[in-house]
Amino acid sequence: MSRRPICRLKVVTGHATALRASACGSESEDDVDLDSLAYGFMASQALFAALELGVFDHLAKGPQSVSDLAAGCGVPCNRLQTLLTALVAAKCLRRDESQLYSNSPNVQKFMVSSSKAYYGDYFKHQVGGLFYARMGQLAKVLRGEEVLDYSQWFSDPTVASLYTSAQHNGSLATAKSLFRKVSLATTGQMLDVGGGSGAFSLQASRMNPELRATVLDFPEVCRVGRSLMEQAAPEKPPRVSFKELDATSPSWPVEAESQDLVLMSYLCGSVPEDLIAQLFQNAFRVLRAGGRLVVHDFMVDDTRDGPALGAYWALQHVTVNPTGLGLAPCDISSRMKAAGFDRVEAFDMIAAMTKVVHATKPCFVSLLPLEPVGAKEAASAEPRWTSFPALWAKGRATFEERALLLCSLLLGYSLDAWVCLGTDDKGLAHAWVLVRDRADASTPAQVTLWDPRNAQRIKADDPRYLRSFSSVDTVFNHQRILVCHEDELQHVCYDFSDPRSWLAAPVDQEILDVLRLYPSTFCPGVSDLALKTWPPSMDSEPLEEAIESKLGAAIRSHREAAGLPTRLDSHLAQLLHVALVNCECERRGLPSQAAVFEGLASRVCAPGEVLRATPVQFNHLRVSLFWSALSDRASIREVLASPATTAFAVRARVVRQPEDAVAVWVLIAAKGKM
Ligand SMILES: C[S@@+](CC[C@H](N)C(=O)[O-])C[C@H]1O[C@@H](n2cnc3c(N)ncnc32)[C@H](O)[C@@H]1O
Repeated sequence: MSRRPICRLKVVTGHATALRASACGSESEDDVDLDSLAYGFMASQALFAALELGVFDHLAKGPQSVSDLAAGCGVPCNRLQTLLTALVAAKCLRRDESQLYSNSPNVQKFMVSSSKAYYGDYFKHQVGGLFYARMGQLAKVLRGEEVLDYSQWFSDPTVASLYTSAQHNGSLATAKSLFRKVSLATTGQMLDVGGGSGAFSLQASRMNPELRATVLDFPEVCRVGRSLMEQAAPEKPPRVSFKELDATSPSWPVEAESQDLVLMSYLCGSVPEDLIAQLFQNAFRVLRAGGRLVVHDFMVDDTRDGPALGAYWALQHVTVNPTGLGLAPCDISSRMKAAGFDRVEAFDMIAAMTKVVHATKPCFVSLLPLEPVGAKEAASAEPRWTSFPALWAKGRATFEERALLLCSLLLGYSLDAWVCLGTDDKGLAHAWVLVRDRADASTPAQVTLWDPRNAQRIKADDPRYLRSFSSVDTVFNHQRILVCHEDELQHVCYDFSDPRSWLAAPVDQEILDVLRLYPSTFCPGVSDLALKTWPPSMDSEPLEEAIESKLGAAIRSHREAAGLPTRLDSHLAQLLHVALVNCECERRGLPSQAAVFEGLASRVCAPGEVLRATPVQFNHLRVSLFWSALSDRASIREVLASPATTAFAVRARVVRQPEDAVAVWVLIAAKGKM
């Protein structure tokens, strides 16, 4: 056996016994400790063997001598002694003056099978059993002499079972920490891709009782996962289900826009690099707008100089996935952004070992969930346009309706926006929005396409443009309709004055004016978006009086319960009307009349008196719900607790809007010395 030459011995802190070897050179403190590195595998094997022989479980009952332990573990004393000495040297065990051995605190907590935090099986079976052997092939794998196909590896039921069961406990603990950092409050549906035993899904469903999760994994793994789930959560129906799927297949059998969260924990390190982009595109497709993609994996820092454990794991992954990507957050985030995600953030998970990259699917027009294609047509014989307020009331929209809404919004911001009708990548009818930086936009970089199907914003010079759409047939906005007669999408230029691509369709200006819900102006801007006056379908006054009398009575009984009298002042109530008119003006973006009200208020207050008033707006006419909502507010409760001498007033104003929408303003005021 060859020995590493010791270059020099150095005396540390003057103690003769503290002699230790150090490497040559002035930066020796930063240099590698070759012996610890090369012989580290012996210490690992000592740990794995101790787990297999049950050494830690025996010692969990109390300190024991070598002979007692030898009998318990079924190993001759002399050989066990050697193992115990190595475990003491590795700080796994401690030996007292009476030569009795006991577990170290970490071993007692994590490596004793009866402990709640036990993850010894993960070391014994996965790290010691599988990865240790794979790492022995590292040089061969690096030279490309040996390749292992991950899916084949997992088709072996023994491997799948060992690996998946061993992973389970360790992942349960990690999942708990992860979901403390990644809130599940808005998560109803979660997709756990490469979810293995379903540990993350199980933990998520425990932390949010509303949550349902689906695990996607190889068939053998799903089998193990299902049986673990039956043991862990025997309730019916189970909230974690399993779907057998190779996640690298081009499309997943999961409905588009059906998920709130897609999790990939320890998956990206097992997938060939060139398939990761596709994995994220699939996640994008199945997520709702505003949904989140969470990637958790062994990762190194973006600087790629550590941490060591992240780097070792990346190397280990090479032995099972030689065409994989040594992961760093920047590798993941660039691919997430390319798939259309935004708000990409990374943070540490298991210290110095794993990280999380978290991204959100952009959510323009996401307030309206997508109506399945064809549903609208099926419901009525003829397709029809729905006005925007009706669309909001319905709460669902087709691509066309989303495109119309978005285009109107962008026009409101004075952008040169158009609705495009054409076909998508599969040749199906589709609608999207086009915005031109300049009216003679002939350079693709000046044209942005907003796709309401997946909330992607694509420049026409982005390769995704030709992948997302296959033809554009018509474009229109509130002023013009143009027909495109260029067959090849890549040759369409968006200069609408170019007769080689565009033909203007005649537009009847009178009809356009009648169709408009909102007043048109020469130069539309945000302030011009106020709703047109809408003739009320019924008189609002009796309704306002009913609200005022109901709330007046409620104020009286509330104060009575507190032993306070109530004086309602009708003159003050008249004055409040001015304030409510102003509230509605401000809501619509019209000039504020606050100064008028302030002038009146200062005139009605005697010296030393103050006027306290809190306006509240409701968007419904369920008057019975008003009082509970009002009396819940701290500011109103303060007004209600005013002294006995105070004058009170209540005023309501009902403002009707198109399609039976209402804005109900309620103002409760108190005037006196407070
Ligand atoms: C280290 S385990 C992690 C399991 C689980 N996500 C967790 O964190 O507990 C990796 C999982 O990814 C799965 N996996 C790897 N490649 C996959 C693929 N192409 N399709 C589906 N699952 C895959 C494996 O079967 C395995 O269950």
